[in-house]
Amino acid sequence: MHNHNDIDMKNFLYAKDLGDLRKALDEAMEIKKDRFKYVELGKNKTALLVFFNNSLRTRLSTQKAALNLGMNVIVLDVNAGAWKLETERGVIMDGDKSEHLLEAIPVMASYCDVIGIRSFAGLTDREYDYAETVYNQFVKYSGKPVFAMETATVHPLQAFADLITIEEHKTVKRPKVVLTWAPHPRCLPQAVPNSFAEWMNEADVDFVITHPKGYELDPMFAGDAKVEYDQMKAFEGADFIYAKNWSCPGVTEPDKYGKILEDYHNLLDWTVSERQMAVTNNGKFMHCLPVRRNMIVTDDVIESKNSLVIPEAANREISATVVLKRILEGIK
Ligand code: CP
Repeated sequence: MHNHNDIDMKNFLYAKDLGDLRKALDEAMEIKKDRFKYVELGKNKTALLVFFNNSLRTRLSTQKAALNLGMNVIVLDVNAGAWKLETERGVIMDGDKSEHLLEAIPVMASYCDVIGIRSFAGLTDREYDYAETVYNQFVKYSGKPVFAMETATVHPLQAFADLITIEEHKTVKRPKVVLTWAPHPRCLPQAVPNSFAEWMNEADVDFVITHPKGYELDPMFAGDAKVEYDQMKAFEGADFIYAKNWSCPGVTEPDKYGKILEDYHNLLDWTVSERQMAVTNNGKFMHCLPVRRNMIVTDDVIESKNSLVIPEAANREISATVVLKRILEGIK
């Protein structure tokens, strides 16, 4: 299959894997107009979607994207019906894990042409998570194109859908986009904010990150983005507010990696409400979902006319269709 794009995409983890983001956005808009335009591309090709963790949007939108391209789809929930998988080499397997990933990966690969992986961060071993150990084992041992459906450190299908959504709803050429930390009762990975920061740094936007001290994202993703610790100041004049909780990335203090640094009850003024939205430039509200209401965002804001959470989720079908199309074009 001839590849019409500027790079030969095999795997998908980072923004750079898509090449020119402007071209990728144009392709997204083309697919949005006719999502079955490339229905012949995936004929007799099979996508295997492997989930180590729960999902609603990624599960449905990625299957729909594969169907848009005429592909067959197999979905495997590793923790519901398959053998429990050991992921680390050298472990004496006398526990509850019956199969090792090193056998399971080539077996899975023998039944498909493309593999999508959802494997969240364990949040206990920063080095293991930030090396993308599970994802990279799939790349190394499958011999097939592998794309991230949220891995230990990134969620590029989400970030691409977010970028498409911003492109569709911006009212100025270079909008101000603010990524804000918001409270949550549980320790969450950094994958969504990492990818959002990485992609916004590549996009034509004025990007600001705001969070309490100690939650600084890894420079690999935050890049040169402006960090403003005063949330109200960060929100001033913003065109888009992107809310998300994340646990401590452990950049300067690795022993705090994956932890909540302060009881969330003390930080409830970080919940996005009309109070903060009032200082924005009629700002639009975004969140990747699932979201805990009145923890991350108030009912009023998420239900307001400025909330983009539903079109944002709908764009997951479009981002996944572009990514799978690019991968199919790269399969010789
Ligand atoms: N945003 C997102 O990835 O949603 P799911 O976890 O439901 O797939």
